[in-house]
Amino acid sequence: MDWSFLSFLQKKEVAAFDIGSNSIKLVQLRQTKKGWELVKMGIAELPPEAIVDGSVIDSMTVTNTLKELIAEHGVKAKDVVSALTGHSVIIKKVNFAVMTEEELSESIQWEAEQYIPFPIVEVNIDFQILGADTEGRGQMDVMLVAVKKDVINDYTNVIKEAGLNPVVIDVDSFAIENMLEINYPAAPGETIAVVNIGASITSISVIVNGQTVFTRAVPMGGNQFTEEIQRQMNISFKDAEAMKLGKAEGEVDTNTMNAAIETVSTNLSFEVRRSLDFFLGGSHGVNINKIFLCGGCAKAAGLLSMMQDKTGMPVEMADPFKGITVSPKDFDEEKLKELAPYFCVAVGLATRRFGDR
Ligand SMILES: Nc1ncnc2c1ncn2[C@@H]1O[C@H](COP(=O)(O)OP(=O)(O)OP(=O)(O)O)[C@@H](O)[C@H]1O
Ligand SMILES: [Mg+2]
Repeated sequence: MDWSFLSFLQKKEVAAFDIGSNSIKLVQLRQTKKGWELVKMGIAELPPEAIVDGSVIDSMTVTNTLKELIAEHGVKAKDVVSALTGHSVIIKKVNFAVMTEEELSESIQWEAEQYIPFPIVEVNIDFQILGADTEGRGQMDVMLVAVKKDVINDYTNVIKEAGLNPVVIDVDSFAIENMLEINYPAAPGETIAVVNIGASITSISVIVNGQTVFTRAVPMGGNQFTEEIQRQMNISFKDAEAMKLGKAEGEVDTNTMNAAIETVSTNLSFEVRRSLDFFLGGSHGVNINKIFLCGGCAKAAGLLSMMQDKTGMPVEMADPFKGITVSPKDFDEEKLKELAPYFCVAVGLATRRFGDR
């Protein structure tokens, strides 16, 4: 199944760019007989006002940052795969009468209308048939995905302005599903939750038997940690961010900082729990085997064990490079390990090839 909105069939190498509000992540992979191999990886920060609430505000800065990444890493691939975050995407599990994929393709605009809070002409719609409905009403479960066309246009425009060719605009949760598929092959019947904690958005999804069946985005992330440090210590956002990342100059009141981090970690963990409880409440007899953490903010000190405490579920940091061949002469192993959580979406995007599913 293709989740893309702009896809067409091709086999050429693609560069994946995960354009987040805090930074752009670049990954290029090669498919070899032995599996996937890392060809390029890079990260470049964006100023806080470039992307806000999942919308491109300062397109010039985003385009220039893309160009810098391309130049710095000598990226030659012109075709680009990118993603939108859960916030600008509507993902809903719905029930339709049983029909074939072709039949649903023809009627989807009409069928989907009642579930989309925007005029249907303003969105691009995609879907995946999940199978017989879990309620046993003789219908089928369908994952409906809708993205506003103007948001897609914003992202494709910054990519085009950088001299690149946007071939797929994916959704971050589906990219992570792909990332897990190559690094953590699921046991049959396994239910996995993924919590992708970025700078401004945390997206939570549940994957059953390798298929995403639930997603939710909450407006929390690394920025909240920084703002809490800023508030408790009465310093600027910039200084608080540096302090949080262990890059502050001079003496740091670590007690106050850790207290701020703990406050936000607690809130975030409860929020994740609420979302997962909501999912579990509507899915009889399912239990979640494990939670994977992704995103830069997953590195926040103590967050993983806090999440484990508050959810009562095993929590593990996802390593998107676990199943990928990495040449030690081209990439610094330590750096790769340090940055791994940032690259979960980008690695998933970079596995996208066309005509292979
Ligand atoms: N050790 C750490 N403690 C707390 N936060 C951290 C740590 N390391 C990184 N972060 C935070 O992770 C965030 C960046 O993560 P990521 O690159 O996944 O975000 P993004 O994709 O740019 O944002 P979004 O997806 O929300 O638009 C920043 O807010 C950064 O401060
Ligand atoms: Mg992100």
